[in-house]
This record gives sequence, structure tokens and C-alpha cells, in this order.
Amino acid sequence: MKRLVVLVSAAAGLLGASAAWAGQPPGGAELFQQECGACHLAYPPQLLPARSWRALIDGLAQHFGENAAVEPAEARAILDYLLSNAADAPASTSRALRDLDSQATPLRITETPFWQHEHSIIPAADWRQVKSRSNCLGCHNSIAGYTK
Ligand code: HEC
Ligand code: HEC
Repeated sequence: MKRLVVLVSAAAGLLGASAAWAGQPPGGAELFQQECGACHLAYPPQLLPARSWRALIDGLAQHFGENAAVEPAEARAILDYLLSNAADAPASTSRALRDLDSQATPLRITETPFWQHEHSIIPAADWRQVKSRSNCLGCHNSIAGYTK
């Protein structure tokens, strides 16, 4: 895709799994990378509110046509990680909830007004080329820098 690659500096390791000490069970961040990064990018937690992550984790057995269920203990650890880093987490500076109805619980980042606004000028041909809006890495070389 010509000139569309967005060079986002990979704010090193922000979302990267930090190496677990040998012998210790993986924590929520590692599990999130492993389990939620298996089929697609491990999407940035700061782009959805806590209520959306809860709904997504509750519904993993029927996840966009796939069964993405994990062990209950793993699901809890992943959810804890997501909630601590969600757009509305106490320390968050995320803009991702801009214009989002407080009653709405989007199950997709790509359904949020913020995301749609940020992507409103992208030509149809570019969307066709990356196949799915959810294919962030089709255009972004990394989304690790998206903290706000
Ligand atoms: C078995 C494969 C699979 C696994 C594992 C999986 N997903 Fe997904 N996920 C999908 C598919 C398929 C879609 C829809 C992609 C599309 O529309 O192109 C999706 C979409 C999503 C979206 C919406 C993306 C958007 O459009 O904004 C989110 C958020 C998401 N997944 C979160 C998770 C989380 C959190 C986990 C880990 C607990 C997870 N996924 C694990 C297959 C998977
Ligand atoms: C068709 C290409 C394309 C796809 C697919 C795409 N983006 Fe983007 N995205 C862009 C472009 C172009 C911009 C605007 C350039 C910029 O602001 O750096 C942008 C901007 C953004 C921004 C705002 C920029 C900022 O600095 O805050 C965020 C956040 C973002 N994208 C996240 C995502 C996520 C998450 C996904 C997948 C769910 C995704 N994008 C999918 C092309 C794309």
C-alpha cells in the first residue's frame, strides 16, 4: 500500500510481553499477548472502556464467529490486565472514549466514534486492500505507541 504505512514508533515494550521469570506462571499481560495475540494483534487495551473488555471476555466462547475461550483463571488474569489499562482506567489519558455514549458497550474498537473519526479520510480502495478494518497492522507498522 503506497504511502499509507503509519510510522508509529514502537514505544518499546509497552505492550510487549515482559519475559516471565523461568518457572513462574505467566501474568495477565503475558497471557493477553499469547492468547489474544494468537489470531490477531493483541489490540491496545486503552482503546476500549472497561465495560467493553468485560463483555468481550464474558463472550469468548462466541467471539466474532470463533471460539476463543480460555481457562477461567486465565480469563480472570487477562481481564484484570485489560481493566487496569482500559480507556477509563483511573490513570488513563486515553482519548478513545471521545463521543462514545456512556450507555454503549462497543465490542469493537473500530465501532467507536474516536476510531471512526481518526480513520474517516481513508479511501475505500485502501480498506479493500487490507481486507478488514480490524487488520490494524495492514497499515500501522506498530500500534504499541497508542497510549492516548
Ligand atoms: C480463535 C481466534 C481468536 C482469538 C484467540 C481471539 N480473537 Fe479477537 N477476534 C477474532 C476475530 C475473527 C475477530 C473479527 C476480526 C474481523 O472482523 O476482521 C476478532 C475481533 C476482536 C476485536 C474487535 C476488533 C475491532 O474490529 O475493533 C477485539 C477487541 C478482540 N477480538 C479481542 C480479543 C481478545 C481480548 C482476545 C483474547 C481474550 C481475543 N480477541 C482472542 C478472533 C480471535
Ligand atoms: C487502512 C489503513 C488503516 C487501518 C486498517 C487501521 N488504521 Fe489506524 N490509522 C490509519 C491512518 C492513515 C491514520 C491517521 C494517521 C495518523 O494519525 O498517524 C490512523 C490513525 C489511528 C489512530 C490515531 C492516531 C493517534 O496518534 O492517536 C489510532 C489510535 C489508530 N489509527 C488505531 C488503529 C487500530 C487500533 C486499528 C485496528 C483496529 C487501525 N488503526 C486500523 C490507517 C489505518
